[in-house]
Amino acid sequence: MKVPHLVQYQGSKRVIAPEIIKFFPDKIDRLVEPFSGTCAISILAATENKCDNFWINDINEPLIKMMEECVNFPERLVSEYLNIWEGQFQADQNNIDYFYKVREEFNCGKKDSARMLFLLARVVKGAVRYNVHGELNQSCDKRRYGTKPQIISNNALEISKLLKGKTYFTSEDYKKILALTKPGDLVYMDPPYQGTSNKENSRDHRYIQGVDFEEFVAELAKLNNRGIDFIVSYDGMTGDKIIGKHLPKELNLNHIYINAGLSAQATLSGKKEITYESLYTSKNLKCKQDESMQLEFCFG
Ligand SMILES: C[S@@+](CC[C@H](N)C(=O)[O-])C[C@H]1O[C@@H](n2cnc3c(N)ncnc32)[C@H](O)[C@@H]1O
Repeated sequence: MKVPHLVQYQGSKRVIAPEIIKFFPDKIDRLVEPFSGTCAISILAATENKCDNFWINDINEPLIKMMEECVNFPERLVSEYLNIWEGQFQADQNNIDYFYKVREEFNCGKKDSARMLFLLARVVKGAVRYNVHGELNQSCDKRRYGTKPQIISNNALEISKLLKGKTYFTSEDYKKILALTKPGDLVYMDPPYQGTSNKENSRDHRYIQGVDFEEFVAELAKLNNRGIDFIVSYDGMTGDKIIGKHLPKELNLNHIYINAGLSAQATLSGKKEITYESLYTSKNLKCKQDESMQLEFCFG
């Protein structure tokens, strides 16, 4: 079955989502995504009828507004996107200058959903970048004009069918969301890669905000104590190089690696290396080793 997705987004788990949801328990009262991005996991879970109650959250407010608009008012989002997208082809318009004009308007406060969508569609690989003032500073992909409105339309309508009337949207720090979860929820967490944040000591400003490792570990310990099931995607390995620190053994999690395919980064430098994404599941969720899965390791 073809699973819809609105737009490319860095760190999206769209490709490995089918492997991740194999770890979902049979019964989920509510799926909570505190770091939802473009919601690849919730969309797939809805497609596969794993759950019919979703809480989607991301600290990036324009991104959440865009997903909310997509779910609740897809026609409006598509029609506004069409206007912005067509603007780049006006006779007196250079399409690259047009992108920078839209980005400038966005940074000056016009953070509407269609503008966010156009910017994501036109930057390279949906890779948003932010400066220390929280302004979008990624340049545009000069070889493409951004996803065609017809494709956006098909996907937005499909996503809306899957999630409308079942989804609650918020834009808060993840800790606030975790504090409001309850037994019966399944929390899927996909925080930014370690070392990618807007903290002063970070040189990588991939997301509007990052997550402190120790603080994150403390939050997971609280979920354990409260008996809440959770799954975390957290870094991994490329070739034999481990990326980021492992979550500590004291959390008593199952840890597996999912084969995410050839590393684009390594391929660029002429190497063939596989990227493995770490997946941790809380102790009540079984670490199923299914032959059909591309799992390389499974240890508790
Ligand atoms: C790896 S991306 C998630 C991608 C998502 N799983 C998908 O498939 O599209 C991480 C997300 O965490 C969000 N984020 C960063 N810090 C956060 C925080 N403190 N609280 C909530 N969300 C945060 C970022 O804005 C980003 O969208």
